[in-house]
Amino acid sequence: MYIIFMKMKNYGDKNLISFKEDELIAQKGTYAPLVDAMRRYKDSPCTGFHIPGHNRGQGVYADFASLMGIDALNIDTTDEFDNLGTLFPSTGAIDEAQRLASDVFGSKRTFFLTGGSTIANLALAFALTKPNDKIAIGRNCHRSVLSGMIISGANPKWIMPKKLDDWAIYGSLDAKSLRKCLEDDPDISLVWVTNPTYEGVVSDIEAISHVCHEFDVALIVDEAHGCLWNFSDVLPKSALRCGADAVVHSLHKTGGSMTQSSMLHISKNSRFDVHKIEHALKLLHTTSPSLLLLTSLDAARAFLSSKEGSTAIENAIDNALYFRSEASKIDGVRVLNSQSAVAFDVTKIFLKVDGLSGKRLESILELDFQIEIESASDEGILILSNIGNTKAEFDVLLDALRKISISNYPDLAYLEGIKFMPLTAPSVVMTPREAYFSKKERIKKEDAIGRICAEVIALCPPGISVLLPGELITESHMPYLSDFSELDVLVK
Ligand SMILES: Cc1ncc(COP(=O)(O)O)c(C=O)c1O
Repeated sequence: MYIIFMKMKNYGDKNLISFKEDELIAQKGTYAPLVDAMRRYKDSPCTGFHIPGHNRGQGVYADFASLMGIDALNIDTTDEFDNLGTLFPSTGAIDEAQRLASDVFGSKRTFFLTGGSTIANLALAFALTKPNDKIAIGRNCHRSVLSGMIISGANPKWIMPKKLDDWAIYGSLDAKSLRKCLEDDPDISLVWVTNPTYEGVVSDIEAISHVCHEFDVALIVDEAHGCLWNFSDVLPKSALRCGADAVVHSLHKTGGSMTQSSMLHISKNSRFDVHKIEHALKLLHTTSPSLLLLTSLDAARAFLSSKEGSTAIENAIDNALYFRSEASKIDGVRVLNSQSAVAFDVTKIFLKVDGLSGKRLESILELDFQIEIESASDEGILILSNIGNTKAEFDVLLDALRKISISNYPDLAYLEGIKFMPLTAPSVVMTPREAYFSKKERIKKEDAIGRICAEVIALCPPGISVLLPGELITESHMPYLSDFSELDVLVK
């Protein structure tokens, strides 16, 4: 393996490559330098006098050690030691792993991150926008994009995606709406869209990118939920291949890496200054990145590039198609599918059961069938067909749905009327940053109608905003604020 490593280091130089092209691609794809470096680290006899202070699991609460396993504690380290490399600047095995990821995703530069896609969105906003810059953003963006606007002071111009009213979710974002937005406001300097939606609805990023190029405006695509697309021709095309300038991937969501690990890709023809983005990441990212998380990114990339990874993705797609078809045959079960004239990522399955709110269905599945789903809204539930799921698991879920459909589970919330997520255009009074740093007071929710919101209200999942700092609070927001008794508003 080490010999391959030495040759691999030169894979950019054609003269030094002695492998056949396809062999080389296979080896580049599945070789995991950080995994190898960590194995050497784990087996090294070094005596350490550095952080983390538990020193390879020796100073740890015994129950936690047995829960975690000593092997995991042994490799819990950060990027300053033992020749593993550093993240900022990227050196050693970490750099090697990032380059391989960049190669596989087809980017100019790929950054490994241990603060989730949240840190990618914050850094992009911080690096690329400044106070009062006008940014066109799909309203269904994750709250981290908005937090980025608070940090930078940029002025979001909201583009409303289509609504799937029957499902109470946002649909795709239309290139035509974007064109109108750019025509109406020639000062817009950046477009930021989320694709796919949390529920898997897909927008036409090629058309969106085309409009951005026509208006010479850069495009960021938050593809947090779409990192598998790069590895399958059946799934939608990644924005990295559709002309986006930067793409965000939560590898930990569906790509098989560990929770909190993500990637930020700067595309080959990006108009962005990579150094500026790296600089922002340096300012915002932890200075003690977990090597466990970074290594899991290397491992996920290697796995997804391997034959086993391809098979796992194919299985996830096949299982999803099987489940969709079987679930649709169950009385009272309705699955969001292509008959709804919506393009989507088939591995994300949104369904509802007549007579039950999504929340009630979620609790029935959990309490009576020990099944955990991805999330529930008032309307329906979201199920993910993952690379780690088996067909047998989908049979268990189908069985549960069949039993539920012939039982008479009561649901008062359903009878009382479902509270959909507000899919209404916001009434913006000032920029999020201006409002965030203005004088605030906390008042009773009922007294907040007509006042200007001073906090981010975006329930997770999926973290899409109901109200943002600087927006007018109206009667129509009230049903969606049932978890709040008080709200932060601007002082009059
Ligand atoms: C579209 C989108 N972008 C970004 C994020 C933030 O990702 P992370 O949880 O990896 O920080 C999420 C999280 O759910 C998301 O849905």
